[in-house]
Amino acid sequence: MVIAIDGPAGAGKSTVARAVAAALGYTYLDTGAMYRSVALAELRGAEHPERAEILLGERVLLDGDDVTEAIRTPEVSERASQVAARPEVRRAMQERQRTLLADGDWVAEGRDIGTVVCPTAEVKVFLTADDTERARRRAAELGADVEAVLADQRVRDERDRGRADSPLVPAGDAIELDTTGLTIDEVVARIGELAAASA
Ligand code: DC
Repeated sequence: MVIAIDGPAGAGKSTVARAVAAALGYTYLDTGAMYRSVALAELRGAEHPERAEILLGERVLLDGDDVTEAIRTPEVSERASQVAARPEVRRAMQERQRTLLADGDWVAEGRDIGTVVCPTAEVKVFLTADDTERARRRAAELGADVEAVLADQRVRDERDRGRADSPLVPAGDAIELDTTGLTIDEVVARIGELAAASA
């Protein structure tokens, strides 16, 4: 069973996907962390950053180095959105993601899980929220200024939506869920119902 949770940054994907995985006893896959790790590998000078070894779990390991915090900086966010537009990077990550998702029960979070990585996912959710609401959430997480986060977010959203290779779009059969004004528990409960209905 695969539950695909796609959507723009700050829509609540990570929090919700983690909570759904914990509630159902599924494994959580943060595909954004993979693109972030590739970005960090490149910032550290790798010539073929898409070949780096990335291990996801409680901690994120990049070529054996714990980068759990290092991949969350604004610099890595910006570079991740750039590397994620490159076809050779997407091919490499999508192939790794498909290998993982082939076995077991997963809650996979990203931009292209329901459209490209796993079009056969039993449950597909596209999470959205108001631009400013998303920026407010991110700013609170980062301890940053809302206006600055909003401006950066717009640039990255446009890049994610506008790229030729697997752009951020809802799958035709995805359920769109606007999380503005909803609590995490409400969103998690709704996805739990969708999972129960498709089991
Ligand atoms: O979800 P996130 O902010 O950690 O993602 C980091 C970047 O990677 C973001 O610019 C979108 C991109 N990404 C992607 O293109 N495809 C995915 N499946 C996941 C993330």
